[in-house]
Amino acid sequence: MPKRKQSSREHIFKPVHKSVEEIMPYQTGKPVEELAREKGLDRIVKLASNENPLGASPAARKAAARMVDDLGRYPDGSGFYLKEAISESLKVAEEMIVLGNGSNEILELLAQLLLAENDETVYAWPAFIVYRLATLANGARGIEVPLDVDLKHDLPAMADAITGRTKLVVISNPNNPTGTFVKTGELVNFLDGLHPSVLPVLDEAYYEYARDNADFPDGVALLKEGRNMVVMRTFSKAYGLAGLRVGYALMPRQLVQLIDRIRQPFNVNSVAQAAAVAALSDGDFLERTLDLNRTEMKRLEARIRSLGFNTVPSAANFLLIDLAGLPGGEIFEELQDRGVIVRAMDAYGLSGYIRVTVGLPEENEFFLEALAEIKKEKRGNRK
Ligand SMILES: Cc1ncc(COP(=O)(O)O)c(C=O)c1O
Repeated sequence: MPKRKQSSREHIFKPVHKSVEEIMPYQTGKPVEELAREKGLDRIVKLASNENPLGASPAARKAAARMVDDLGRYPDGSGFYLKEAISESLKVAEEMIVLGNGSNEILELLAQLLLAENDETVYAWPAFIVYRLATLANGARGIEVPLDVDLKHDLPAMADAITGRTKLVVISNPNNPTGTFVKTGELVNFLDGLHPSVLPVLDEAYYEYARDNADFPDGVALLKEGRNMVVMRTFSKAYGLAGLRVGYALMPRQLVQLIDRIRQPFNVNSVAQAAAVAALSDGDFLERTLDLNRTEMKRLEARIRSLGFNTVPSAANFLLIDLAGLPGGEIFEELQDRGVIVRAMDAYGLSGYIRVTVGLPEENEFFLEALAEIKKEKRGNRK
């Protein structure tokens, strides 16, 4: 056969897994500075990614700054001090801990390790979109079980959706984007009914905010009872370290050893490890974070309701707002025009909703005023 010169324009890249073509890239939005410049605004309030409005604890910042002197060195690939700190704080053996570049990476590692072509991951919908992404990236299928009428996980329906091809079932507790949670009894029932070939993953990214709710399950306690399961937590939310990308998961030892074979040797950077160790020991900062969230959540809920909208009861640091018939996508745009960034919910199939992160009092006020103005204008237009 005559050889043909290959030009780069001719090359067609084909992913190994066809399911990759179904993935919509995760939308992160523009940098705040860019948005301010584009819209000619001098103030932008970002309440879109469920970050801690207080930032990181002073102790974590100091530890991170100290680590800057050592940036020329690779991080500790074993995460020795961070695993030690997590182990002490949760009373879980270090051999049961996996660290990740955000808990997001641990989801990807589990999917890579356990999913083959045409396998299935069962999870609720709407829920954290990375469950879908990690599943499709590995050639598997996402079985998305609608939340119930109260926007809570429908665990009986999820149990029914499990087939012989299901390898993973993920439960976000509390759930993002709804803030709803499954209770201890319901969860234990569900876990007890699972076939051993299905690995349950309990994503507790918002655990610290939710743990004081009556009947909120403690995944770590369930794991310690000897259950075959994974419990994921993160430093991105209540610990205020989203920018550093560090999370962890607890799981049976054998699973940790398998993940150690496929993860990057230095998957969690040195600044993140140092800051996370310090963050874990700063109980005062965590309390301040939780206090602020409690007070501001109540105020936001009351004010949003007084505008005639509804909120879904939330155990996390964000609120899903039912806009009572107004279009969520438009309200999102109009808030953005006024300098408030929230999360549009159209991609989650909740087009009449927006999700807002609980911010500082002045940030929440800015959001509330913008929302009130928009509501007034819309009502005016309808007359
Ligand atoms: C439910 C849930 N799980 C996991 C994550 C990922 O967190 P990270 O990768 O920052 O640890 C998030 C972040 O928004 C989340 O909402």
